[in-house]
Amino acid sequence: MKKTPYYSYDASLLRLTLEEAKKAMESHESLKGGCIHYALKANNNPQVLATIASAGFGADCVSGGEIRQALNAGFPASKIVYAGVGKTDEEIIFALEAGISCFNVESVEELRIISEIAVKEGKTANVALRINPNVGAHTHANITTGLAENKFGINMEKMADAVELALDLDGIRFMGLHFHIGSQILDMGDFVALCNRINELREWFIFKGVELHTINVGGGLGIDYEHPEHHPVPDFASYFKTYSTHLRLDKNQQFHCELGRSIVGQCGSLITRCIYVKEGTYKKFVIVDAGMNDLIRPALYSAYHKIENISNPEGEQELYDVVGPICESSDTFAKGRYLSSTKRGDILAIRSAGAYGETMASTYNARPLAESEFKL
Ligand code: LLP
Repeated sequence: MKKTPYYSYDASLLRLTLEEAKKAMESHESLKGGCIHYALKANNNPQVLATIASAGFGADCVSGGEIRQALNAGFPASKIVYAGVGKTDEEIIFALEAGISCFNVESVEELRIISEIAVKEGKTANVALRINPNVGAHTHANITTGLAENKFGINMEKMADAVELALDLDGIRFMGLHFHIGSQILDMGDFVALCNRINELREWFIFKGVELHTINVGGGLGIDYEHPEHHPVPDFASYFKTYSTHLRLDKNQQFHCELGRSIVGQCGSLITRCIYVKEGTYKKFVIVDAGMNDLIRPALYSAYHKIENISNPEGEQELYDVVGPICESSDTFAKGRYLSSTKRGDILAIRSAGAYGETMASTYNARPLAESEFKL
């Protein structure tokens, strides 16, 4: 067995998830020929990326580093989109040279700089403008991004000026619009609200006779953290049906989305070992060898992850706090959680850790980064 803690990825579940996502999108006439850009920020493990690339997905990147990883994993440049509020000149040059398919531009100043650099490099940058649709998502405050006045995107009332500028600037080819309202969204009503907003904005384009080639709705489909065993594959059917039903697309318009969590979330577990069981005055602590540096979501977002004692799956249920070894009280994976009776040496699996687990890891407390296994 590998040295704990480590991330364990289930390759067959990943492949099944990819198939289901593609099938669900392609079952709708209006979405056919669209592209699911996998959001690398969710998980950039090389084997995970290679599997997603070979299934024909595109990539959604937010840095030059992610573009490089996407290219190395086999994603074609023609299927890479690049978002982010702070693209540096070096990153813009790199993306232009790589020939990525689209820059998702988040501010007017960024648009002018991309134009300037593209002209200097003798290239044309395909650009979609990220519009802040002022649609609230029912999710954690830290991961809601679509509401007004926030660092992401261009506010709706500034859209018309930004589009006209994009059409006017040298070195820029205006492709369409980009949106993203938040993450871990399970209420399809939030996506319906986004569709309604996009349909409203579309009127302006029709009125002006400006063509929209692409509509990129971002990511955000959530997963079942409470019962991953019941829903190992997220509800792609409802997600794509929502867009096919509510988003008005013309024949020549291409649908794009950027799913991260729903592609990889359920495919990964963080495997950890119980080092000690501390009997406190009122509670018992299971102290494990994984810490918040390996999986920060519980500490950062109070996120729930299911935990199983896989050494003693049938054991009597006992109430524990499951904590890591790091010198911070927030280094806690679960409080007052029922687990099979646990003793030193038992192996625990922290489920649904495939998204925003390994990618958000750090070496805090001089702890080495966890290794990973890719189970075929
Ligand atoms: N597109 C854009 C522009 C995004 O900002 C994001 C995620 C995605 C796509 C992918 O969203 P997804 O399908 O994964 O929901 N670290 C947090 C999540 C942060 C999400 C940031 N943006 C977490 O662990 O819950």
